[in-house]
Amino acid sequence: MTAIDPAQAGGPEVLVACERPVPRPRAGEVLIRVAAAGVNRPDVMQRQGNYPPPPGAPSIPGLEIAGTIAALGEDVGQEHLGQPVCALVAGGGYAEYALAPVGQCLPVPDALSMVEAAAMPETLFTVWTNLFERAYASDGDTVLVHGGTSGIGTMAISLANLFGLTIIVTCGSDDKCAAAKRHGADYAINYKTEDFVERVADITNGEGVAAVLDMVGGDYVARNLKCLAEDGRHVSIAVQRGAKAEIPIFAIMQRRLTLTGSTLRARDTAFKALVADELHRTVWPHVEAGRLKPLIDKSFALKDAAKAHARMESGDHAGKIVLTTGYTP
Ligand SMILES: NC(=O)c1ccc[n+]([C@@H]2O[C@H](COP(=O)([O-])OP(=O)(O)OC[C@H]3O[C@@H](n4cnc5c(N)ncnc54)[C@H](OP(=O)(O)O)[C@@H]3O)[C@@H](O)[C@H]2O)c1
Repeated sequence: MTAIDPAQAGGPEVLVACERPVPRPRAGEVLIRVAAAGVNRPDVMQRQGNYPPPPGAPSIPGLEIAGTIAALGEDVGQEHLGQPVCALVAGGGYAEYALAPVGQCLPVPDALSMVEAAAMPETLFTVWTNLFERAYASDGDTVLVHGGTSGIGTMAISLANLFGLTIIVTCGSDDKCAAAKRHGADYAINYKTEDFVERVADITNGEGVAAVLDMVGGDYVARNLKCLAEDGRHVSIAVQRGAKAEIPIFAIMQRRLTLTGSTLRARDTAFKALVADELHRTVWPHVEAGRLKPLIDKSFALKDAAKAHARMESGDHAGKIVLTTGYTP
């Protein structure tokens, strides 16, 4: 099969097409003939050599795919064969075939194209487990999410709209703020021209937000804590501005704040299967009804993965970047 499997870390140019053997599914796994694979910021970090795949994961990048099930591992029911699915994978997505644990697959309904389906698992699992589970966001809450036009941010906006949250996002330009609002953000703050702490205080009449989903880290953490209401929750999912922060402990005590965070890729298959099952019950009815679709920025052919990464690194994208293999089920 054709795959992208760079021999060394480097710039986007290391992502060249090569030949690899089609992997064989083990017990509990399915082989998926890939139609499309989502591109995520962690793939860029992996390519740069800053985010090695966890033990046992393929060196081929790619954390989410959509396609049809082409072969079954031992103990996987025959009814799965030929089914259109999207899946969260620990790697291997940038290829014509990839393995997925059967428990991490979700059906692709008629309402979704393969490109749209491939663009969902990584951000859906991440936003669900962090914003709704770790931060307990629920109907009526106001939340702050940085990176309003990122893959993560646009999924957070979509889920906030479906589950009754008011969502404030930050973005690095007026155009991105406009894109986030078109996608459904209630408020979008240009963090380059406005102080988001002041704006959040204005928007919430001084009360603050119930939760912050933070992908920035560094000096943002203390500023995020200023945005939190009493009993507010702060969830870290990335540290783009630095992995260290100075924390005002007294503020945490006074307002009973909670600081937490997580990384999805390193979690085991049992956890990811539990999340998939929960998403199937809670979110998938909205997907099937056409009420939840990812915002797609652009798709590229698999062989042009370097161009896809260059676009992500340019920061010009709004929404998800996707690779297509040419297979259309
Ligand atoms: N913990 C987990 O399990 C997990 C899972 C998936 C992704 N992530 C992380 O989530 C983040 C988003 O991933 P993605 O795939 O959606 O990437 P993406 O589309 O490339 O988005 C990155 C976002 O970060 C924002 N950003 C970068 N530097 C910033 C800064 N200094 N201040 C404010 N915003 C800044 C950018 O916003 P502007 O362009 O508007 O500045 C952009 O929207 C990544 O950092 C990724 O590593 C974590």
